[in-house]
Formats: sequence, structure tokens, C-alpha cells
Amino acid sequence: MVGSTLGTLFRVTTWGESHGDSIGCVIDGCPAGIKLTRKHIKDELDKDIPYPVLTRRVEENAFQILSGVFEGTTIGTPISIIIRNSNVESEKYKKIMHTPRPGHADLTYRLKYGHVDWRGGSRASGRTWISIIAAGAVAKRVCMLKKILITSRILEMGGHKVDDKNLKNVIEKLAEESKRNNDTTGGIIEVEIANIPHGLGVPFFNRYHADLGHGILNIPGIKTFELGAGEEAARMKASDFNDPLVVKGGAVTTESNRAGGVLGGITYGVPVVFRFAVKPTPSILKPQKSVNLRTMKSAMMSTEGRFDANFTPRVQVVAEAVSAIITVDHLMLAGYIPCDSIIPRRERLQYGLRENES
Ligand SMILES: Cc1cc2nc3c(=O)[nH]c(=O)nc-3n(C[C@H](O)[C@H](O)[C@H](O)COP(=O)(O)O)c2cc1C
Repeated sequence: MVGSTLGTLFRVTTWGESHGDSIGCVIDGCPAGIKLTRKHIKDELDKDIPYPVLTRRVEENAFQILSGVFEGTTIGTPISIIIRNSNVESEKYKKIMHTPRPGHADLTYRLKYGHVDWRGGSRASGRTWISIIAAGAVAKRVCMLKKILITSRILEMGGHKVDDKNLKNVIEKLAEESKRNNDTTGGIIEVEIANIPHGLGVPFFNRYHADLGHGILNIPGIKTFELGAGEEAARMKASDFNDPLVVKGGAVTTESNRAGGVLGGITYGVPVVFRFAVKPTPSILKPQKSVNLRTMKSAMMSTEGRFDANFTPRVQVVAEAVSAIITVDHLMLAGYIPCDSIIPRRERLQYGLRENES
């Protein structure tokens, strides 16, 4: 299976399946000199399941940093992180191994690979994205060097507009409804990347927002990617849509942010804002129409394995991690972060300084 790597200079390769022994990532290209402790990784992994009421599989996420970090600092070699799968129940998937779940990747994996691991969605499971959360923890440490702040919020869940005040109530209601109706729901998430330096993005073919879109649309279950005003732009006149240019604090900036912080594929210091839709969890207990692949006859099926009533809050954590990874890659591509080491060259070369190396 090719294509398990995200990034050009800051490269994250993930591996592992939902019900395998463990899941992990290798981060190649992280410069030396970044302060990184177990706690930085653990704090992010602990965000994996923000609302247990929505999820039936809660993992401990016991992990180990196998390489690339010494005495709490990155050393420029590949960072390898392994996360154990401990809470696995594979038996229930046996019953549906020949009847692909509608809306899931069972059919397409079968058509593409022929021989598949039928347990819990395997590589197509949301569980495998725990490795991206771990890699995102490293990327967030690099982002902090430039004081870049990545935040996100849920705008909608199960068709309800949500904010800080009603989110918990809506979640409880959706969890209860999911149990009662044997059905699931989706949501909409907005991400903001603030304190972003200008000049991130390469017009052909690594526009900053295009790379963000690439990362976000690779998260399972994501159906859209909208930058700034997004689809609304199609219904506006240019005179209403264009963000007027103004001078603030001696620098050129924009009065509004309908562009979403990227013009010509390049950032200009204004926060990058994008939104995306998360679909309803495809696995449901409610019987659905499928096909038995052995008999090639129509068959009703339902998923008895454990699944999320709504996985929007879990995607929030993953989307921040993806945004951090893409942003670090672009910081390196634009020369804001050196590839080898963040320790100043003069300090590194103190025993062999030459004039042209300073
Ligand atoms: C964090 C996360 C958790 C998920 N949880 C579930 C789940 O419990 N059950 C399920 O059927 N799909 C779940 N999904 C979605 C499926 O992985 C996804 O729909 C499937 O791989 C098909 O891919 P597609 O929706 O992009 O076509 C989850 C996705 C993510 C990112």
C-alpha cells in the first residue's frame, strides 16, 4: 500500500490497523533541538476521546517513543512512536466479513486489495489516526517556536448549531438518540491557524490551503473543505467578497477575512480559517441493505461492533494535528525552520567555524 506518508520535508509515515497489536508513526525530517517530552505526546493522546459518551471503544493509548529523542530533546534522527491497541473486540466483525458495511471502506478495500483484515475497519478505521495525533504533538512543538496557534471548534452537530454553552447538552442528546434509534449523526468543524507568518505556500502545486485540504480530506469521513467564506463566495459580488487592503501597525493587511488567510496559495499573516463536514458514522446497528459477497445476493446487515454515535469531536483533535503537520512542513519549505537543527549554526560549529559557514 503506497501513500502512507504526509509531508515533503517534515514527513510523517503512519502504520498499523485498528485491531492489530499496535499503531504508530515515523517522523522523518524533524530538526534537532526541539524540546520534546513524553508529557507533550501524552497530553495530545489524552484528547483522543473528548466525550466518552459518544464512543464505545475507549483506549488507554499506552505508548513508547522508540527513537529520535534523547534527554528530552529531538536529535534530528527519525522519531518513532508506538501506541498499543489494548481494547479490541474482533469477534463481532466475523459475522459481517462477507457483507460490506454501506458507507464504510469494506467494499473498496476488498475490490482493491483482495485480501483484507476484516476486523474493525482495519486501516480504514478512525483508530489508526491516533498515530497522527502523536505526530501532531511533535508538530505542535515546532509550531510553538513561531508562536503559531492552532485552535478548532465545532459549529454544528447532528444538525444543531453548537457553541461552548450548549455543546455538552447536544452531545448527551445525540448519544441518547443514537442508542434509541440505532443510528448516528455528523457535524461541521472550523479550524483557525493564528500567528501564521507570511509566505507559506508554493503556488505550483503546494498551495498552503491545498495542502491543508489534502491533509483534511484524507481523514476518514470528511466530505468537504471550505476556505474562508467557502461556498458562499459563489453567491457574492467581488466588491463584497474581496477583503479590502489596509495598513495596520505599519504593515499591509486586510480589513476582513473572507479569503480565509490565503491568496494565490500563499499566507500573508492573517489567520487561516477553514471548515469541513464530518459525515454520520457509517457503522450502525439499524439494519441496512448490503450484498453477501459469497452468494452475490442482497442481504440485510447491521454492525454489532463498537462504533461512535458521532465522531465529530474526535476529528477535531485529528484535524488540529494534521494542520500542525502541514504547517511545519510549510515552515520548513519556506525556510522559517531549518531542516537539520534549530540550534544556531554558530553554536554547533564552535569547534570548526569557517568564515563561509557562519
Ligand atoms: C476519529 C474517527 C473515528 C471514527 N469512528 C468510526 C466508527 O466508530 N465507526 C465507523 O463506522 N466509522 C468511523 N469513522 C469513519 C470511517 O473510518 C470512515 O467513514 C471509513 O473509513 C470510510 O471512509 P470515507 O468515509 O472517507 O469514505 C471514524 C473516523 C475517524 C476519523
